[in-house]
Amino acid sequence: MRIHIVSLFPEYFRGPFDCGPVRIAQKKGVLEIAFVNPRDFTSDPHRTVDDYPFGGGPGMVLKPEPLFQAVESVLQPDSHVVLLSPQGTMFHQDLARQFSQLPHLVLICGRYKGVDERVRLALANTEVSIGDYVLAGGEAAAVVVVEAVARLLPGAVGDEDSVASDSFAAGLLDAPYYTRPAEFRGLVVPAVLLSGDHAQVARWRRCQALLTTARHRPELLRNQVLSEAEREFLSLELGKEEPDGQKEGNRT
Ligand code: 6GU
Repeated sequence: MRIHIVSLFPEYFRGPFDCGPVRIAQKKGVLEIAFVNPRDFTSDPHRTVDDYPFGGGPGMVLKPEPLFQAVESVLQPDSHVVLLSPQGTMFHQDLARQFSQLPHLVLICGRYKGVDERVRLALANTEVSIGDYVLAGGEAAAVVVVEAVARLLPGAVGDEDSVASDSFAAGLLDAPYYTRPAEFRGLVVPAVLLSGDHAQVARWRRCQALLTTARHRPELLRNQVLSEAEREFLSLELGKEEPDGQKEGNRT
């Protein structure tokens, strides 16, 4: 898969793309990342990429010409162009999965107040946001998208089963994990995990995943089919908790 990042700050990506699955995917040749700088597609002496918004108001807007030319310089018939902006639809695991199936992704990082609307209208196939907060630019969002996509590419993560059991892979948050020692500062690992009974462990993990999801992201449970036993477990556990509070032992 190829990813082009359209950004005024290609140096931003030097650290994050040289670590972990993004680095491994590139080294194995399943992912190729290249940068396009809209500033290289300006023709005035000041290499201007932004201008004042028509109609007035604070902030600057990225001009359409350099962005169009930058994207068009790498565009192929099979390209999918994504505009990263807080106005986009929310990025999620299934979109990462869809992106990971594509041959060519072009990620446009907005800056300043925003980008000229014609970029969204005539250049981008999709507009994506990574959450309900405002970043200085789309660069951090591009890192998030690339990392989520890269670890789904074949060979980028050591253990493929680990990807299959990720949070959101089954539409749920993940169960908690423990490793040695079995007791640490008086905190003991749940006995079932030490039992060697794989069916029991799988049932426990499913129940814990349901419980964490019910506590933190209850809306995700609407798409789940629960067994009678799972329903009972949840109402018993949730019934023990304060109506609106975090459970005890959670420091946040
Ligand atoms: Cl994609 N860009 C910016 N600038 N802010 C954001 C975002 C993107 N997603 C959430 N906040």
